[in-house]
Amino acid sequence: MRRLLVTGGAGFIGSNFIRYWVAHHPEDRIVNLDALTYAGNPENLAEIEATPGYRFEHGDIADAACLARLFADEDIDTVVNFAAESHVDRSILGPEAFIRTNVQGTFTLLEAARKAWGSAPDRRFLHVAADEVYGSLAADEPPFTESRAYAPNSPYSASKAASDHLVRAWHHTWGLPVLTTNCSNNYGPYQFPEKLIPLVILNALEGRPIPVYGDGRNVRDWLYVEDHCRGIEAVIEQGIPGEVYNIGGGNEWCNLDIVNLVCERLNELQPGADDYRNLISFVKDRPGHDRRYAIDAAKIRRELDWEPRHDFRSGIEQTLRWYLDHRDWCDRVRRGDYRHYYEHQYG
Ligand code: NAD
Ligand code: DAU
Repeated sequence: MRRLLVTGGAGFIGSNFIRYWVAHHPEDRIVNLDALTYAGNPENLAEIEATPGYRFEHGDIADAACLARLFADEDIDTVVNFAAESHVDRSILGPEAFIRTNVQGTFTLLEAARKAWGSAPDRRFLHVAADEVYGSLAADEPPFTESRAYAPNSPYSASKAASDHLVRAWHHTWGLPVLTTNCSNNYGPYQFPEKLIPLVILNALEGRPIPVYGDGRNVRDWLYVEDHCRGIEAVIEQGIPGEVYNIGGGNEWCNLDIVNLVCERLNELQPGADDYRNLISFVKDRPGHDRRYAIDAAKIRRELDWEPRHDFRSGIEQTLRWYLDHRDWCDRVRRGDYRHYYEHQYG
């Protein structure tokens, strides 16, 4: 039986992870520590709120006293650190929160684990990292392996890179049993609609322009969120402390092709007055926009026997149906702060 501290568990990937973990490890204790920023929503976990063994704690990973209390009260043996400011465009509008949570917060969490665990070798600290810390690939370059040098280009990816370096150092210096997973772009249910795929779905359904940055030819490697959660599970259970594992779908798409795919499928599922593709609008590019990300996941496939189970078309289909069935959720999460952000970002 494990006793997990999941940080950022009320966000997109964290809530999918907790739902997955409760279904597959019902005997485990899960403490979900989340500051409930605009991106965190306890409603994402409403159906497991009453599950024995699940506890939600409203708090901040940069709060050392809160962390010390949780480690002591709950005898935590496994940390899964999702908590972060996660949106690149917001990091360009205001980088400070990214430094505070992603850098200072991860530092505080590492220190709490080090103090609580000493040198106990059976503990695990899994840090959820991103592919964009490796920088941008040219069209003809091979995908990122774990040995690729870090070259972050946005305030978001620089803050995530800094947190990855801290995690590495806490292992090398004090032997903290850390594991790092660098994952490519996720999509699926409960993703906050500031991110490309849900933004396209909702703008199409609401008849608003679908903003495509630059020429729409930037490439991302998309993975269904449940496959990411299964990858994290494999690394917690079988990963070697101190190692880094890349997780990705081998599924590269340029943005414009994804936007067209989503619109075409929506034309069939929920036809509007006009073809949704007519809403596509090319807008000013994101400053410093990375051209291409792609993950080489050979290591986790070979060593931990992980592979994605969802192909992109079926994953997109499930995602579209989820957003069509959860319009009320979309309306609720877009109240308040998000409206101001949207006006500022898209005018
Ligand atoms: P998200 O923005 O949907 O959720 C982040 C969660 O962290 C929210 O619930 C928020 O309330 C919480 N949080 C923020 N600051 C906090 C703080 N100081 N203390 C406690 N909780 C705090 O993000 P996501 O897309 O679910 O990403 C989760 C993690 O995975 C992040 O670390 C991100 O960098 C990483 N990641 C994301 C992707 C992706 O495609 N979304 C890909 C690879 C890695
Ligand atoms: O690669 C992993 C990263 O993927 C994660 O670490 C981040 O948390 C996550 O947000 C994501 O970063 P991206 O910047 O790739 O995701 P986003 O959904 O913001 O954008 C995907 C692509 O779509 C990117 O090339 C920018 C483009 N885009 C995005 C938005 C929001 C548009 O063209 N128009 C838009 O309105």
